[in-house]
Amino acid sequence: MSLRIRPIGYVTTDASHEELRRGEAVSKIVIAPRFSRGLQGVEDFSHFYVLFWLHQMPEKSQAFKVHPRGRQDIKKVGVFATRSPHRPNPIGLTLVKLLRKRGRILTVKGLDAYDGTPVLDLKPHDKRDSAPRPRVPAWWKKLEREGKRAWRPAGLRCDFQTHRSETLRSRTR
Ligand SMILES: C[S@@+](CC[C@H](N)C(=O)[O-])C[C@H]1O[C@@H](n2cnc3c(N)ncnc32)[C@H](O)[C@@H]1O
Repeated sequence: MSLRIRPIGYVTTDASHEELRRGEAVSKIVIAPRFSRGLQGVEDFSHFYVLFWLHQMPEKSQAFKVHPRGRQDIKKVGVFATRSPHRPNPIGLTLVKLLRKRGRILTVKGLDAYDGTPVLDLKPHDKRDSAPRPRVPAWWKKLEREGKRAWRPAGLRCDFQTHRSETLRSRTR
């Protein structure tokens, strides 16, 4: 079975890798004109889930087991037990704060997507979406404790491919 996914827009940002990682980036989501009617009412919500396509990952990621955040000192786990971008379908899911809506451009905070990333969908967030006391493994807690420390796993060191971003931009216009 093959699925056809149409991006609804793309991300623009000049945030650094570190700002993206820390959830501090302020980015814009530019929605393609043909989908702009779907934005009516979004301004009434403070937070959104953004689904996006990690388009700079290698075509077919066969890494079904990964070191969380590329950390060799943490044992490999199944990719579906992580938020790794190395997935069979490189789909990112991030909760962002909506700062502003101007026409078909949304300014959001906390989106960890590179400049030019295709956006697949937006869904409003409600407090019922969060589980009260989620169970997480020890390695997750360890990474959380170290959260403020800078990390830059080799596997995520992707350079921007401006020409590809430009192609996507022109396709979503
Ligand atoms: C670890 S992934 C997690 C994405 C999302 N928060 C999730 O949990 O699905 C986020 C990282 O992927 C990388 N990234 C962002 N946009 C990308 C893109 N378009 N292609 C490939 N990698 C990207 C950046 O290094 C970013 O910090």
